[in-house]
Amino acid sequence: MKALVYHGPNEKSWDEVPDAKVIDPTDAVVRVDATTICGSDLHILKGDLPEVTAGRIIGHEAVGTVEAVGDAVTNLHVGDRVLVSCISSCGRCRFCRNARFGQCLNGGGWILGHNIDGTQAEKVRVPFADNSTYPVPAGVSDEEFLMLADILPTAYEVGVLNGHVSPGDVVAIVGAGPIGLSAITCALLFSPSHVVAIDLADSRLEAAKAFGADVTVNNSREDPLAIIASLTGGLGADVAIEAVGTPATFELAANLVRPCGHLANIGVHGKPAVLHLESLWARDLTITTGLCDTYSTPTLSRLLETRQIDAARFVTHQFRLDQIVEAYDVFENAAKTGALKVLLTGAS
Ligand SMILES: NC(=O)c1ccc[n+]([C@@H]2O[C@H](COP(=O)([O-])OP(=O)(O)OC[C@H]3O[C@@H](n4cnc5c(N)ncnc54)[C@H](O)[C@@H]3O)[C@@H](O)[C@H]2O)c1
Ligand SMILES: [Zn+2]
Ligand SMILES: [Zn+2]
Repeated sequence: MKALVYHGPNEKSWDEVPDAKVIDPTDAVVRVDATTICGSDLHILKGDLPEVTAGRIIGHEAVGTVEAVGDAVTNLHVGDRVLVSCISSCGRCRFCRNARFGQCLNGGGWILGHNIDGTQAEKVRVPFADNSTYPVPAGVSDEEFLMLADILPTAYEVGVLNGHVSPGDVVAIVGAGPIGLSAITCALLFSPSHVVAIDLADSRLEAAKAFGADVTVNNSREDPLAIIASLTGGLGADVAIEAVGTPATFELAANLVRPCGHLANIGVHGKPAVLHLESLWARDLTITTGLCDTYSTPTLSRLLETRQIDAARFVTHQFRLDQIVEAYDVFENAAKTGALKVLLTGAS
């Protein structure tokens, strides 16, 4: 089969590799009908995640068709169409029994395209297949459902639910990439009074407007603190969601929150950020961090089925799987190409 192989920092190619096969009895092999590229894949390619070793097939999002199942798999059958989630779950450990699949103690969590071969391939081995896949509902397209593999559950769980977004809230979202746009989409489920999107790129702010942010702030030339203050009688946002992953944006998000408000960090941080306790200690903030668990996938699936979430609009570019190197170029140059999510379709 063919797959996108990481060969060390800044090196990748679409290579012939051995076919994915069932190894453990709880595995399935899924033919990849649709996959996409995540910002975290770009982090891997830059060498930011040294645990990902040369030779690894990357990618952790897919919709596909089950081709084979191990002897212990009971929920899945050959021919089933499923979402392969970015998070795998053993289903039995302390954290999985608490629906905290991201923290799985038995070899689950974020493993695909990270610790084991991933989804940017013609086929993928999916461990713990009963617990790590979700059936594609009738009436929902592959590309829509693919957005449940990572960005929507991440933004919903780690941003909106951890941030306790509530009716009437002023919600400030720092970063309007696919994760920030997903946070806008999911925050709107709770009828906030304002959703304020903050980004340095006008193209991303235009997308934020289209996704339902009623206020957009380009913080290269406007002051987000002043704009949030003007919307909140000087108090600050009820909830700030950090969706970039830099020290500057974490500190900005902390400054935007009102006393007793919530700061929900989603960004993956590679460097330390300063927590200004000298000004925050008396503000009664709740600060949360999180790796996506994907416990909300069934909820989000129902919202897609009933059209309360429009997931198709994330897909800005479409390629065949064997054009993936070109797709990476488009995704990497998002400011120029306007890319949000690129859809890669297999030979189904
Ligand atoms: N916690 C999790 O489980 C989880 C899961 C998936 C992704 N993530 C992380 O979420 C973050 C966002 O992901 P994405 O795919 O949307 O990334 P992205 O790179 O596409 O988007 C980030 C956005 O932030 C903007 N930005 C950069 N610096 C800024 C600044 N100083 N002020 C304002 N805006 C700024 C960029 O213009 C861009 O639009 C990343 O760190 C990613 O790794 C976390
Ligand atoms: Zn991802
Ligand atoms: Zn587990």
